[in-house]
Amino acid sequence: MTPQIYLFILLSISSCFGCFFCQSILPKIEEDIEKLKADFNSSQSDVAEGGSIFTERLKSWTEATEKKIILSQIISMYLKMFDNIGPATSKLHVKNIHNALHTLNNSLTESFKKVKDLMELAKLPMNDKKIQRKAVNELFPTLQKLLLDHPTTHVKRKRSQNQKRKCKC
Ligand SMILES: *[C@@H]1O[C@H](CO)[C@@H](O)[C@H](O)[C@H]1NC(C)=O
Ligand SMILES: *[C@@H]1O[C@H](CO)[C@@H](O)[C@H](O)[C@H]1NC(C)=O
Repeated sequence: MTPQIYLFILLSISSCFGCFFCQSILPKIEEDIEKLKADFNSSQSDVAEGGSIFTERLKSWTEATEKKIILSQIISMYLKMFDNIGPATSKLHVKNIHNALHTLNNSLTESFKKVKDLMELAKLPMNDKKIQRKAVNELFPTLQKLLLDHPTTHVKRKRSQNQKRKCKC
């Protein structure tokens, strides 16, 4: 696991939020990550064997809210890692990174909810009669969402653009 990835993740997160908090923590966190890389010998060539664990996966997630969903899970994996690095946690730079990750994690509550939805969906017993009746009842609205949502949002966007243009006059 290369700690360049920490920086990559933090940069991705900050591009999602584009907020002051993220911009202000990045330079400081970069220094701390350099120290962490030294602790973990993460610049050695063997680290690259077998490819990246996060960076490559992130590439197919392009839309901002979509990207936050996978980033929320990656951040929680980092937090899990920090819970498992033992005495290193007492070092100042490790504490700083850990705190920053906690703060970022807490700002991703909405994305965690979305992941929870997916997990709960996967658990639905589709062989259950009551669930099947509910499912059939919700089939048409579901297909409507799938097939009609894009055109409607497009029309809405157009309409609001028109309104904005009107307001300026
Ligand atoms: C990093 O490398 C040094 C020197 O080769 C070694 O003593 C240390 O145990 C290594 N640390 C880790 C976490 O691999
Ligand atoms: C990260 O945030 C999620 C959602 O807010 C929360 O459920 C989870 O406990 C947090 N993880 C840690 C390690 O704090």
